[in-house]
Amino acid sequence: MASLSIRDVYKTYPNGVPVLKGVNIDIEDGQFLILVGGSGCGKSTLLNMIAGLETVTKGDIQIGGKTVNNLSPKDRDIAMVFQSYALYPSMTVRDNISFGLNIRKVPKGEQDQIVSRVSKLLQIEHLLDRKPGQLSGGQRQRVAMGRALARDPAMFLFDEPLSNLDAKLRIEMRSEIKLLHQRLGTTIVYVTHDQIEAMTLGDRIAVMKDGIVQQFGAPQEIYDSPSNLFVAGFIGAPPMNFIQGKVVEQGSGVGLELDTGVKRGVLNLPFDGAVKSHVGKEVILGLRPERITDTRNAHNVDDGKHQPIDVKVDVIEPTGPDTLVFAQVNGKRIVSRVHPGANPQPDQNMSLMFDVSKAVLFDPETEQRIA
Ligand SMILES: Nc1ncnc2c1ncn2[C@@H]1O[C@H](COP(=O)(O)OP(=O)(O)OP(=O)(O)O)[C@@H](O)[C@H]1O
Ligand SMILES: [Mg+2]
Repeated sequence: MASLSIRDVYKTYPNGVPVLKGVNIDIEDGQFLILVGGSGCGKSTLLNMIAGLETVTKGDIQIGGKTVNNLSPKDRDIAMVFQSYALYPSMTVRDNISFGLNIRKVPKGEQDQIVSRVSKLLQIEHLLDRKPGQLSGGQRQRVAMGRALARDPAMFLFDEPLSNLDAKLRIEMRSEIKLLHQRLGTTIVYVTHDQIEAMTLGDRIAVMKDGIVQQFGAPQEIYDSPSNLFVAGFIGAPPMNFIQGKVVEQGSGVGLELDTGVKRGVLNLPFDGAVKSHVGKEVILGLRPERITDTRNAHNVDDGKHQPIDVKVDVIEPTGPDTLVFAQVNGKRIVSRVHPGANPQPDQNMSLMFDVSKAVLFDPETEQRIA
C-alpha cells in the first residue's frame, strides 16, 4: 500500500526563509497526484521531502500509513524522475536502466529480464546499446522513466519530467505517462507548472502558491468550483473571465450590472442567500470562456440559462473548432468561445449569450469565493 499523507508540513531552509507553510494532502494508493503552481511556490521542495532528499521542518509525511520523516531515501520504496533526467553519460541505456538494480545486487539474469520488460513497455528496445548523448530529448526522457520503472517501487515521483521537450513531444509523452499509470496502477506524485498537464493527468490536484495549498481536489472540481481568484485564474486556458460589477436586486433574485460600451444592462445571477447580503456592493463574477458564446452554440436559448448581451468585438482569434472573441465588459477585456460559423468581425457589434449556470462569485477584497 502506498497511500500518501502530508500532515501539516512546514519547511524552512537553513537560511531561515519559510517555504512551505502548513501543507495538508491525502491521496489513496494508486492515485495520480499533481502538485501545480508558479515558479518558487515550493513544489520541488515538497517532492524532495517526500523522496527524503530534504528534511521535514515540522509535520508528518506518511507513506502507506507509516511516518517516513526519518527514513533515508533508499528505504522509502520510491523512484524519482527529474527534469534533468540525470542519466550517466558514459553508460549505455541498458546500464543506465539497470544501474539501481546493480547497486542492490539483483542477479544478472533477473536484471536482463527487467530491462527487457521495461524497455518494451517504453518502446526503447532498439536504443539499449546507445549512450545518452546519442539520443533525442524524448528518448532520454524515456530512459529516465525506464530507470524508475525498473525499480518497481511503491510510488513514483516526477519533477517536471516533460519540461525539456518540445510542445508536440510533451503532448505525446503526457498520454504515455497516463497510459503507464493506467497499466501499472502505481501511486504517482507529479510536479508541473503547466495547468493543462495538471488537468489532463491528475486524479487529484494540489494548487500551490507561496508555500500554501490553495485548493486540493479532483480536476473537474477545481475547474468548476475554484475556491479563490488565484485558483480560478490559474486553471483553464484561456483563463476564466473576471467581471467586476455591482450586485443589484433583480425581481426576487439578484443580478450584476453590466456595461459593454454598446449597452448597459443587468445579468441575472442564479444565486440568492449568501449573495443577497452583497446587494449594492462590488463582486467579481467568474465565467469560463466557453460559457459565453453565440446564439448558434447556445442550444436551447430559451432555457433561461443564456442571456443575450450586446458587445463590440475587439479582436478575434480563430482556433479551428471555435473562434475566440474578445470584447470589453465593465471596462475589462473578456474572452468568449463562439462557433466559427457565427463569423464574428472585429469592430462590429455582436450579441453574446451568457450562461451563468456555472458562474462563480468572488469577494474583490478577500479574493475568496462567495458563491
Ligand atoms: N536549498 C535551498 N535553500 C534555500 N532556499 C531554497 C532552497 N531550495 C529552494 N529554495 C527556495 O524555496 C522556494 C521554493 O523552491 P522550489 O524549488 O520548491 O520551488 P518550485 O515550486 O519547485 O519552483 P520551480 O517551478 O521554479 O521549479 C524558492 O523561493 C527557492 O528559492
Ligand atoms: Mg521545481
